[in-house]
Amino acid sequence: MLLRLTIFIISIVALSRLVEGVYLEPDQNVRIPTGWTHLGRVDATDEILLTFALKQQNVDKLKTIVDQVSDPDSSRYGKYLSLSELASLVQPSKQTIQTVQTWLSNHGVKTCWTVHTKDFLQCSLQARVAEKLLPGSEFNRYIKGTQTLVRSPVPYGIYEELAEHIDFVGGVHRFPAYQKVVSKTWANHDQRPVGFHLGVTPSVIRERYNLTAHDIGTFPNNTQACAQFLEQYFHQADLAEFMVLFGRSFEHRTQIEKVVGHQEVGKAGLEASLDVEYLMSTGANISTWVFSNAGRHESQEPFLEWLLLLSNMSAIPWVHSVSYGDDEDSLSVAYMERINVEFMKAGARGLTILFASGDDGAGCREVSKEKNVFRPSFPASSPYVTTVGGTSFKNPFTISYEVVDFISGGGFSNVFPSPDYQTAAVKNYLQSMKTLPPQSYYNATGRGYPDVAALSDNYWVVTNMIPIPWVSGTSASTPVFGGILSLINDQRFQKGLPSLGFINPRLYKLQENLTSAFFDVTVGCHVSCIDDKVEGQGFCASTAWDPVTGWGTPNYPELQKALMNK
Ligand SMILES: *[C@@H]1O[C@H](CO)[C@@H](O)[C@H](O)[C@H]1NC(C)=O
Ligand SMILES: *[C@@H]1O[C@H](CO)[C@@H](O)[C@H](O)[C@H]1NC(C)=O
Ligand SMILES: *[C@@H]1O[C@H](CO)[C@@H](O)[C@H](O)[C@H]1NC(C)=O
Ligand SMILES: *[C@@H]1O[C@H](CO)[C@@H](O)[C@H](O)[C@H]1NC(C)=O
Ligand SMILES: *[C@@H]1O[C@H](CO)[C@@H](O)[C@H](O)[C@H]1NC(C)=O
Repeated sequence: MLLRLTIFIISIVALSRLVEGVYLEPDQNVRIPTGWTHLGRVDATDEILLTFALKQQNVDKLKTIVDQVSDPDSSRYGKYLSLSELASLVQPSKQTIQTVQTWLSNHGVKTCWTVHTKDFLQCSLQARVAEKLLPGSEFNRYIKGTQTLVRSPVPYGIYEELAEHIDFVGGVHRFPAYQKVVSKTWANHDQRPVGFHLGVTPSVIRERYNLTAHDIGTFPNNTQACAQFLEQYFHQADLAEFMVLFGRSFEHRTQIEKVVGHQEVGKAGLEASLDVEYLMSTGANISTWVFSNAGRHESQEPFLEWLLLLSNMSAIPWVHSVSYGDDEDSLSVAYMERINVEFMKAGARGLTILFASGDDGAGCREVSKEKNVFRPSFPASSPYVTTVGGTSFKNPFTISYEVVDFISGGGFSNVFPSPDYQTAAVKNYLQSMKTLPPQSYYNATGRGYPDVAALSDNYWVVTNMIPIPWVSGTSASTPVFGGILSLINDQRFQKGLPSLGFINPRLYKLQENLTSAFFDVTVGCHVSCIDDKVEGQGFCASTAWDPVTGWGTPNYPELQKALMNK
C-alpha cells in the first residue's frame, strides 16, 4: 500500500514537470542509428558535457550585415567584423546570461566554459544533475567499434522560464553523421574501366582547371583549413609521400601548419587523407590547418565542437572545407536555424565555409507505404554556406569536359527558403527544364543547392603509405574548390583587397550573364528514389545553374580575374 502511494506521488510529480516544461527540439530524431549497441544507463555520478546554445541578440542586424559585406554592389562590401565586434553584436543579453547561470549554479553546476561571443556555454556535470536540469532525458551509453557515446534516447524538456533563453542543448541526442568516402577498388571494381584509365591526381586537377605552375600561394598570412569529425587521422608521412608521387610539377608544402583539437595516434583514414592532400595540392604552398575532433569526450557533438572553436578563435583560416552532412529531416528546426546563424557569423567575419553536397544525389525518404520524397542534406542546404557538388570526365581516358557524377548531392531545402541571391537562377532552372521530377518529391521554394562543383570521381589518395585509386565522393570536390578560392584570396591579399568571405551573392551575380569563369556542366542526372514515378532519377543538369552541379566547375584564370576588381 505504501509502495503504491509512493509511486502515485512520483507519477504526479513527473506529470506536473512535463506540464511546466517545454520541449526545445520536439522534432529532433531521437532514434538510435543502426550500428550502435546499447551498453546501459550511465552511472548517476558519471561526468557528462552539455552545450547550451544561448539565445543571441541582433540576429536580424547580423543578417543585414552579412548580406551587405557579401554583396559586391554594397558600399559595405568586404568590410568585415572582427571577432570582438561580432561578439558585441550577437552576445546574449545580461538577462539571458544571468538566468542561465543562476539556474545552473542552483543545481550545483560550477564547471562551465564560454566562447568569445558568449553565445555558447559548455558545462561539465554529473548525469543525475543533467537529468534534473533537462526533465525527460535519460543518459545512456552506446558503442560502435571502439567509439562510445553518451546520449538520451528520449526527448528532453526544459523549464518554461529557461526556454526563451536557450535555442537548444547539445550533447543530448545527435549522433555523429557520416559522409562516407569510398574507394571503388573494394566495391564494384569490376564495372569500372581498367587498364589505362585516367585517375584524378593533382596534375589532372591543375590541368583541367587551368592552373599553371605559377598558380600557387605566396602571401605569408594566407591560410586554409579542413575539418574532420570522424575518429580519423591524417598522417604527415602520407602527405609527404603523396607529394613525392603526385606533386612534382608545382611548388607546395608537405607539412600541416597546425592541428586544432586532438589528433591522436591511429590508423590514417581515407577521408582525412583525401581532404588534406587535395586542399594542399590545389591551394598549393598555402598554410593549412586541420581541425580535428577525434578522441573527444563521449557526450560531445563533434560538429558543434568545431562551431564553438570558430567562435572562440580570432586568428582563423579564411577558407574552410568541410565534408559533413546529415538528413534535414533527422534534425530539429531549432538546431538547424541556430547553426545557420553560426554560418552568418562566419560570413560577417569574411570566412568562406564550403560544404560537400552529399553522395546520394537527390536522396530518398519513404514517408509512407509507396510514397517517397527526396531527402535534402544539412548543412549543404544552408543558404549561408557554399555547397560543392561533383562531376566526372565524360571520357574517362582524357582530360576532357565534365558531366554529372550521378552521386552528386543536390536539391531543395524543406527548411530554408530560397535566398534572394539565387531567386532568378532557380526560377530560370525550373522554367527552362522540359522535364522535372514530380512536384510531390521536392519543395521548389526551398534553398537550391549545390552552388558550384568540381571533379568527384576516381581520385588517387595516399593513406597508410599506400596509394589507393578510385576514391570518389563530394568530399573530394570540396577541398579542390576550397583550394581554388584560397588561391584567389592569395591574389586579393597581394593587392590589399579583403578575403572573398561568403561568396554566393557575388558568384550568382557574376553568372547572371553566364561567364567563362565556370565550365557549365550540362549533361547527366543524379540518382534518387528507386520507384515507379522517378525510376531512380533525380534532377538533371542544364545550361546555367542547376541543383546537381550548381554553376559548374572552376576555370581558374577567368574566375580569378572576375573576382579581383573589388
Ligand atoms: C575559449 O577560449 C578561452 C580562452 O582561450 C578558454 O578559456 C575557453 O575554455 C574556451 N572555450 C571553450 C568552450 O572551449
Ligand atoms: C582553360 O581550359 C579550357 C579547356 O581546357 C580552354 O578551352 C581554355 O582556353 C583555357 N584557358 C582559359 C584562359 O580559359
Ligand atoms: C610559398 O609561400 C611563402 C609564403 O608563405 C613565400 O614566401 C614563398 O616565396 C612561396 N614559394 C614560392 C615558390 O613562391
Ligand atoms: C600577418 O599576420 C601577423 C600576425 O597576425 C600580423 O602582425 C601582420 O601584420 C600580418 N601581415 C600582413 C601583411 O597582413
Ligand atoms: C517548403 O519550404 C518552405 C520554406 O522554404 C517551408 O516553409 C515549407 O514548410 C516546406 N514544405 C514542406 C512540405 O516541407
